Amino acid sequence: MAKAHFGLIGLGVMGENLVLNAERNGFSSVVYNRTFSKTEQFLSGSAAGRDIQGAVDLKDFVNKLERPRRILMMIKAGSAIDAVIEQISPYLEEGDLLIDGGNSEFRDTERRVAELESKSFGYIGMGVSGGAKGALEGPSMMPGGTKASYEAIEALVSKMAAQVEDGPCVTYIGPGGSGHFVKTVHNGIEYGIEQILAEAYDLMKRVFNFDSPEIADVFAEWNKTEELSSYLVEITEVCLRTKDPEDNSYVVEKILDKAGQKGTGLWTVMSALELGASVPTIYASLNARVMSSLKSDREIAESTLSGPNTVFDFDCSQEDISNLTDAVVLASIASYAQGLDLLRVGSDQYNYELSMPHIAKIWKGGCIIRSRLLNRIQEAFTKNPGLSNLLIDTWFAEQVKIRLVGLSKIVAIAAANGVPVPCLSSTLDYINSYRTARLPQNLVQAMRDCFGSHTYQRVDKEGTFHTHWLD
Ligand code: 6PG
Repeated sequence: MAKAHFGLIGLGVMGENLVLNAERNGFSSVVYNRTFSKTEQFLSGSAAGRDIQGAVDLKDFVNKLERPRRILMMIKAGSAIDAVIEQISPYLEEGDLLIDGGNSEFRDTERRVAELESKSFGYIGMGVSGGAKGALEGPSMMPGGTKASYEAIEALVSKMAAQVEDGPCVTYIGPGGSGHFVKTVHNGIEYGIEQILAEAYDLMKRVFNFDSPEIADVFAEWNKTEELSSYLVEITEVCLRTKDPEDNSYVVEKILDKAGQKGTGLWTVMSALELGASVPTIYASLNARVMSSLKSDREIAESTLSGPNTVFDFDCSQEDISNLTDAVVLASIASYAQGLDLLRVGSDQYNYELSMPHIAKIWKGGCIIRSRLLNRIQEAFTKNPGLSNLLIDTWFAEQVKIRLVGLSKIVAIAAANGVPVPCLSSTLDYINSYRTARLPQNLVQAMRDCFGSHTYQRVDKEGTFHTHWLD
């Protein structure tokens, strides 16, 4: 039998769909799964009739692949990847290439790229975004590693990726762990936007007194606009309209309000803190998941801690909905702005030479944060690649100008009704801080110097100063 063009290890949902995608795009494939019965089930199921072979072990798997071998690992991030690398390495030959398509921590990928490249193998850390459907139909792919390794897979991933008007949603991201760094930040932006939409839903439900269909209608309207048309808005409308066949109630209202997290949002915030990048909207979304995990505490606190509560006679006007739209637009912009700022700072720190226009382009299709807004983001960074923050691009600055009052009013309404809006309120403070030339940190400096003699700088003369405040 002819050698296969492409190999995939790990037949989870993403792995299965990615190999079906590759084969559909003309790349004969071979698959390996630790549990062979899973391989058999796949070959007799969705892979039946396809140019996809199975392998009983890694030696068999490698032998069925043409040289240079291109092997995509879709396995759980962490030690499992190191284990597979150790097991398969004895069978690899010079120029063979391993690709990690999971959500690995980018410093783990840095290490692996260095290790494998030193043995004359190739190694790519590739963020893959789009979930199961995206993997099958075309994900956004963020491959990082050496340029030579990328070139060895370029034809393959360019076919597999989602396609938008200006090309495939894949590009060479940069060296080392840059691909996984970009995917991590993609997920941080995803966390932010998911939370922003959840806060809008909460306000419409608890303050505007909208029912599920009315809230879904607002999302449907948002999905028609340039500023808010996106995959996440689209699926939110679907989720809100989905009924439980058992009792015809809305499924969303039956779901326990405790959000899980697999780590990429945490890594985004940790990177931002290490690098000194400001990502308050993204952090607020992560903290909102932590707060949601305190379910039993919150049930006690609800009857213990009193304060402003939702007033049920709120007379929602069209202006209120317009203000909520303003709030969601600005918070979504802030989520992207903060994520892209983190990428900029990380690129400088790690010498990744990231291209923001290219990253915006490959996020326009296939990935979870795909949106029409990314056209404007791509345009902004194409016009000014050195843009220090998305907010000061002309079009985005205009969005702030026309929508900041609406955001402010919505945060005030939420506060008056005791409804938490961590992402919306963090966005308001982020934008107000960013557009304030003089913040009150002069007083913080005074306090630090007073108790700790930490010294301070002045606005009126060069140098470092200390005052004997208490003498
Ligand atoms: C994607 C998703 C994918 C996964 C997230 C979920 O881009 O396709 O982001 O990577 O669904 O990791 O992350 P949490 O479970 O942490 O929300």
